Amino acid sequence: MSEILSIENLVKDYGKIKAVNKLSMEVEEGSVYGLLGPNGSGKTTTLGIILDVIKKTSGKYNWFGSTSSSESRKKIGAILEVPAFYPHLSARRNLRIITKIKGKGADSIDEVLKLVNLHDRKDDPFRTFSLGMKQRLAIGAALISNPPVLILDEPTNGLDPQGIAEIRKLILQVAGQGKTILLASHLLDEVQKVCTHFIVLNKGRGIYSGLVDEVLNTSNTIEIASKDLQKLSKAVKEFSHLNSLEEEKDLLAIQLNNSVDTHALNTFLIEKGIVLTHLAIRKSSLEQKFLKILEESDDQTV
Ligand SMILES: Nc1ncnc2c1ncn2[C@@H]1O[C@H](COP(=O)(O)OP(=O)(O)OP(=O)(O)O)[C@@H](O)[C@H]1O
Ligand SMILES: [Mg+2]
Repeated sequence: MSEILSIENLVKDYGKIKAVNKLSMEVEEGSVYGLLGPNGSGKTTTLGIILDVIKKTSGKYNWFGSTSSSESRKKIGAILEVPAFYPHLSARRNLRIITKIKGKGADSIDEVLKLVNLHDRKDDPFRTFSLGMKQRLAIGAALISNPPVLILDEPTNGLDPQGIAEIRKLILQVAGQGKTILLASHLLDEVQKVCTHFIVLNKGRGIYSGLVDEVLNTSNTIEIASKDLQKLSKAVKEFSHLNSLEEEKDLLAIQLNNSVDTHALNTFLIEKGIVLTHLAIRKSSLEQKFLKILEESDDQTV
């Protein structure tokens, strides 16, 4: 795997505020890399610097192992802010204008419109689009010259659950084409759902980085309780997908085979005449730690 981006000791000061504070990280080709952190933790500033939009105070960053930033910039599609589309022009015309600005032909437009699921609406004016559709068009615009790298800043902000699901699906599709994606988000569950790698930012510092699967998605402990814990314990031991069981004070902490979900367990217990008073997936300790960090920093920025 080759390295797409390397950041070393990056610093950005705004007067006394350290927006980015000695940040180092590396992004490998083909990864979906999440910058995870609360409001004000330096995500947008970091993306702005590596896109040459914001001037760094000190430190280094390096795209594609080279130092020429104008050449590498062409290989990066980015949305920091929603681009200014012409409201009265259609999706297609808007993308055509972007291809002209980039000195490209119109041949990729239809393919991009299909990818972002707007092909049916390609002739409708931009102003008639929902927020989610506008955001998908923005992602389409960033992909128009087929760049190997895509940068997204809070791509699901302000969208409803369906809009969020569509954007996440799109991100996974783009990742499936082998593109490298760098994504800033303050949502742990977003990073969990779409990213392969992540770094946690807090007040401009990178405080933790790792693989999403190893760190965030490891917990498969399920807590269950019912009025009669002994009866529950006896019943659940008969569930063929049970891996382990620990009796705690007011509940049972169990682990199931990976392929089995809580629905199957609940159905099994209901058939045994047991009604659960509690059923929850236990968060891993790291996940709890992150949530605490995020909450604490949120308190300070409010
Ligand atoms: N132009 C600026 N002038 C002064 N301070 C700034 C400027 N831009 C950002 N900051 C400060 O830098 C810090 C990091 O801001 P940044 O926008 O990078 O955070 P973020 O992680 O993207 O937050 P959010 O989740 O709200 O988008 C904040 O304290 C912010 O107030
Ligand atoms: Mg931001």
